[in-house]
Amino acid sequence: MTTVQENTLNDTDTDTGVDTDTGDAAPARARAWWRSATIYQVYTRSFADSNGDGIGDLPGVRAKLPYLAALGVDALWFNPWYPSPMADAGYDIADYRDIEPAFGTLADADALIAQAHARGIRIIVDIVPNHCSDRHRWFLQAVDSEPGSRERSRFWFRPGRGEDGSQPPNDWRSIFGGPAWTRLTASDGTPGEWYLHLFAPEQPDLNWSSPDVRAEFEDVLRFWFDRGADGIRIDSAALVTKDPDLPDLSSNPDPHPYEDRDDVHEIYRAWRAVAESYGGDRALIGELWIPDAERFARYFRPDELHSAFNFPYLCSAWDAAQLRSVIEQTLAVHARVDAPATWVLSNHDVDRHVSRYGRSDTSFGLDRREHGRPVDVGLGTRRARAAAMLTFALPGAAYVYQGDELGLWEVENIPADLRQDPIWRRTGGSDPGRDGCRVPLPWSGAAPPFGFSPDGAPADPWLPQPPAWSGLTVEAEDGDLRSMLELYRAALRIRRQDPALGDGTLTWMPSGESVLDFLRDGRFRCVANLSPTDIALPPHEDVLLQSTDLAEGLLPPDATVWLRVAD
Ligand code: GLC
Ligand code: CA
Repeated sequence: MTTVQENTLNDTDTDTGVDTDTGDAAPARARAWWRSATIYQVYTRSFADSNGDGIGDLPGVRAKLPYLAALGVDALWFNPWYPSPMADAGYDIADYRDIEPAFGTLADADALIAQAHARGIRIIVDIVPNHCSDRHRWFLQAVDSEPGSRERSRFWFRPGRGEDGSQPPNDWRSIFGGPAWTRLTASDGTPGEWYLHLFAPEQPDLNWSSPDVRAEFEDVLRFWFDRGADGIRIDSAALVTKDPDLPDLSSNPDPHPYEDRDDVHEIYRAWRAVAESYGGDRALIGELWIPDAERFARYFRPDELHSAFNFPYLCSAWDAAQLRSVIEQTLAVHARVDAPATWVLSNHDVDRHVSRYGRSDTSFGLDRREHGRPVDVGLGTRRARAAAMLTFALPGAAYVYQGDELGLWEVENIPADLRQDPIWRRTGGSDPGRDGCRVPLPWSGAAPPFGFSPDGAPADPWLPQPPAWSGLTVEAEDGDLRSMLELYRAALRIRRQDPALGDGTLTWMPSGESVLDFLRDGRFRCVANLSPTDIALPPHEDVLLQSTDLAEGLLPPDATVWLRVAD
């Protein structure tokens, strides 16, 4: 059984019902919750199924709030939970102001927000501004309207090229494979205009030069802030604005016609003003895959976003020199703009890190999911433990993707007919896609559905769970001090209690090349050994936590230790 851990950090804020640091010494910005939070990503579809239809839902999440509170997380980020035809697992939104019926109702969301707040857990909702669903009322209206109409101006409709307009308006490719344009066909079979979709055809791109689009999204933000959302995760945040000339990419246009354009910042300035009108502690968090550190930092100017995901850290190989350079660069970039760094190892778009770290090439790229290569799960798990402790010791906020805390690995053998990711379909299977990191969580029992669905549920989980996960259920790991779950609980307990952790700075200590050794606030020291040999520990008063047993006082390879050291 898990026990509910009291959130003793702060007092209750009357506005959102969530604890807020009321210390008066530091400026408000330095005290904000999102600078230090541990944020748990809930992929609702795969979290817990309350009614046995094989699909996770909001009542399922509510029932597990005691588990999440005991884990010690500060906030939950929900992947899109809105009504959706699920052409891209909910990233094709048909209505931004309601809840997908398979997940529950708006009343379920309200209850979930209130119950999470009562436990001191904040809620982050996922907003997708780049595109909506082709079933969204706006797109349906646009299809029914004339070329040049206001209804069409909310999207990117263009005539085709060539004499009969049968060629797409430009050479852009969908990020999911295939062309980025689809042609409309009238009910009598007459071909019409083409529309742009950087992702699947069921995800038409919105045109942000339309005032309707801008006003609509600011209103959607208010809708969720009014319901108590504490933060917004902004999907594909850097892709949202387009060069209206839509130039061919083969003409090498500069600036890029849709990536990280200067005019995207106006949108987030307006959103920041909306967030600020709620008292200043509502966070805007961008999904930004931007390699250029200077360009990345521009999103955190004081009137824009609060933070973003750190993908270079996620993509880094399990290699001390690479990690150190990513960490240093991350801290330097964020320090300049006074934004908190964030650290993320996995999410719903990438191969789970137990598998990544168990391969011969431990780095990751969205364009190369290395399925089918040998994976040493034992080694990957050992490194995942060390990586979690490294992550939680770094300055700033940290993300946990559901199942990280159980040590789940990437499921690479999902039968083709059960796969759902449009990436798999649109690349003809050459890219395995993301289903392997989205398999429903194992909670209890010795066989699937592992308590994900209730006993005797009529439907199987929407993706099959590996029988070998019987040792990775919450029930199996609970109370086993060697389990990943107990390591996460212990690490997050220390992270919440020790003021040295979370927001702040670090000081590197001299170390061997394959070792990451740093101090936080003088007395907290983290040592991660990525070398192939045991290393001696520095002088210390206490060992607070270790990812692997110490070997006669030495730190073994692929292990991290947290130490209390003398002043
Ligand atoms: C983001 C999401 C991903 C989704 C895509 C299109 O990258 O994380 O899951 O498929 O945007 O919305
Ligand atoms: Ca369900």
